[in-house]
Amino acid sequence: MSSNLIEKKPDGREGRDGDRGHHHDQRIASLLEQMSLEEKIGQMMLGQPDEGPAPEVLGDLLRNGGIGSVINVIDRDTVNELQRIAVEESRLGIPLLVGRDVIHGFQTVMPIPLGQAASFNPDIVRDAARAAAEEASATGVNWTYAPMVDISRDPRWGRIAESLGEDPFLTAELAVAMVEGFQGKNLAAPDAIAACAKHFAGYGASESGRDYATTNIPENELRNVYLPPFKSCIDAGVASLMTSFSDIDGLPATANGFLLKQVLREEWDYEGFVVSDWASIPELTTHGLTADDRGAALAAAAAGVDMEMATDTYRHLADLVNSGKLSVEAIDAAVTRILRIKFQLGLFDQPYTDARDERAKDVRGRAFEIARKAATQSMVLLKNDDEVLPLDSERIASVAVIGPLADAPYEQLGTWIFDGDPDLSVSAVQGIRALVGDSIQIRHVPAMETSRSRDTSAFDSALAAARESDISILFLGEESILSGEAHSRADIDLPGAQAELVRRIRQAGKPVVAVILAGRPLTLSNIVDDVDAILYAWHPGSMGGPAIADLLFGIESPSGKLPVTFPRVVGQIPIYYNQKRGGKPPGPDSIVHIDDIPVRAPQTSLGMTAFHLDTHYTPLFAFGHGLSYTRFEYDNLRTSAATIPIGGSLTVSVDLKNTGRIAADEVVQLYLCDPVASLTRPVRELKGFKRVHLEPGQMQTVAFDLHSDMLKFWGRNNEWIVEPGLFQVWVGGSSETSLGTEFQLLSDRESDD
Ligand code: GLC
Repeated sequence: MSSNLIEKKPDGREGRDGDRGHHHDQRIASLLEQMSLEEKIGQMMLGQPDEGPAPEVLGDLLRNGGIGSVINVIDRDTVNELQRIAVEESRLGIPLLVGRDVIHGFQTVMPIPLGQAASFNPDIVRDAARAAAEEASATGVNWTYAPMVDISRDPRWGRIAESLGEDPFLTAELAVAMVEGFQGKNLAAPDAIAACAKHFAGYGASESGRDYATTNIPENELRNVYLPPFKSCIDAGVASLMTSFSDIDGLPATANGFLLKQVLREEWDYEGFVVSDWASIPELTTHGLTADDRGAALAAAAAGVDMEMATDTYRHLADLVNSGKLSVEAIDAAVTRILRIKFQLGLFDQPYTDARDERAKDVRGRAFEIARKAATQSMVLLKNDDEVLPLDSERIASVAVIGPLADAPYEQLGTWIFDGDPDLSVSAVQGIRALVGDSIQIRHVPAMETSRSRDTSAFDSALAAARESDISILFLGEESILSGEAHSRADIDLPGAQAELVRRIRQAGKPVVAVILAGRPLTLSNIVDDVDAILYAWHPGSMGGPAIADLLFGIESPSGKLPVTFPRVVGQIPIYYNQKRGGKPPGPDSIVHIDDIPVRAPQTSLGMTAFHLDTHYTPLFAFGHGLSYTRFEYDNLRTSAATIPIGGSLTVSVDLKNTGRIAADEVVQLYLCDPVASLTRPVRELKGFKRVHLEPGQMQTVAFDLHSDMLKFWGRNNEWIVEPGLFQVWVGGSSETSLGTEFQLLSDRESDD
């Protein structure tokens, strides 16, 4: 084997208890022998009670073994009745998977995944998923359609809200934490729910950020950027995967044998099952890949889609098998994978959900604590001129709280919150009032009915409140409905008349703080100079209000970092930190002010580099950026060795000191670059991060272990390779850090010398 090929290491897919579910295989095999072809196909179909009570709508399908899973049933008694019918009234008594989109919380809503990603904290992400699993499993849900691991480089795309951002390493680390949180250490535990990594694959590359739009992704980009988070989830034992709606290079993911067979089964040896997305199988005909449902069913089943979600083209599978178009072995393989997860969930031994109201109350208290901590750690301080934040409650007597999202307990929950309870949600103004009591006068003026309103008639009263107060806090952004599935925007400025509101409040001549609640990066260039500070709160969930209050008044210091790049204007998209250098990279001479360009300026007079004439070539805020109320100094970056052999490792260390007056967390980030390789490589790539808490004056050495495997990339010959040579290392509090060093990866020959 070439020394450049990565040794296939045990990938830990055995899971924590060494169980890949094979000890159920005997029971599965004996069950398969008893099943008719129709009963097998029933296990490959997921039903949904679209109209009417589920037991009536689905009862006969369950009795006849016509479906093996259900979706969107969250009443425990109804779920137990459906399980009872399946277990006690069908011929073979196979229990049901009960699926639900438990994406970022259940009744207690956590920050949207993009916000959770900004915490750069796998522990809180894992805790949030665990709390969601405890709440959801109490209703009988035993399968969630999360984590969504689509790499998202386009903030026009509504589903960026549901993603973990633009970076494969951060997405993989946090997605694994979600899988561990949802599934726990034992899938058969009553509060475990099976996870589902989605959408396989490349969904986030939808053209122009329009949801469901086509994607064209070279295999090199697929392998290096879009697939790694799925592989990490599989190595962590994720129970299932979901296919994407989108077509990839002309072949829809739901019928893509390259993805579903070659990559998933042959290369990755994945044993979980694959579910289609909602109606993505009949949509193969809409795509123009197949002529009808029968053709779509054949294309999906033959490619490796084990279960059909919500539609019933798989009713054709029996005929396709009987006519020799599809093998019964393919059916058996699909059913085996589905049954294995049902056994691992313990459903054959305990299909019913007991009344755990008491447990639910305990869970609720812990869920709120986790939601508050997650929200606090997710918020990113983008700007803080003259340290206008934190607000000093000793010096401030009055605050104007203005804007459409100051008191929006539903909107702050964000997208994908079918089960979020707005009555459990605490808004910003509620959080602020609870924190400051009567010590500070709060003048609350919504000023706009919704975030999209263009009615400025209440702006005068808002300005009056600002004039009478020591400082104004503007709560701006997007309502929940403006992001999420099928909710992409072509213009990602603040909606409605919000920018006008900022300009009006600026006229009060007092400090202005903007707190922005949104499901995506917004283009803020038209307000960034009119506010003194910006706290980006994403859609922070049920406890967004107390978290915002704690951060504004310095009870906590902001510690979030951006998991996605903020463009200056929408025309810069796609813009992301781990881009390729190109042959004419922009630099200081690429800064042009289009209005200053002389008439008849000579063709080459403006610099011939990769930039736009009408905007600065850098983003407004970079990946990894996030300010604190204290100051952190990085010093003494070093590596434990100047060279390592292939297969070797070294330690990268840096001394971090809190030189400010406030205790705070810092997310230390480590980036690598392979400046010369057989394929062009990104200018830098995140390969490590650690959240560190330091008291004022405290110094800590932060160390990262670097193995040569972390230098691998998918090369020209369609295999993972590591190439000897120089590697650059940067460490700091943002992807823009300039604190760097380097080391040499030696070839085998050099190592032998
Ligand atoms: C939706 C989404 C998918 C979700 C599924 C079930 O269309 O694309 O992410 O899990 O249907 O609601």
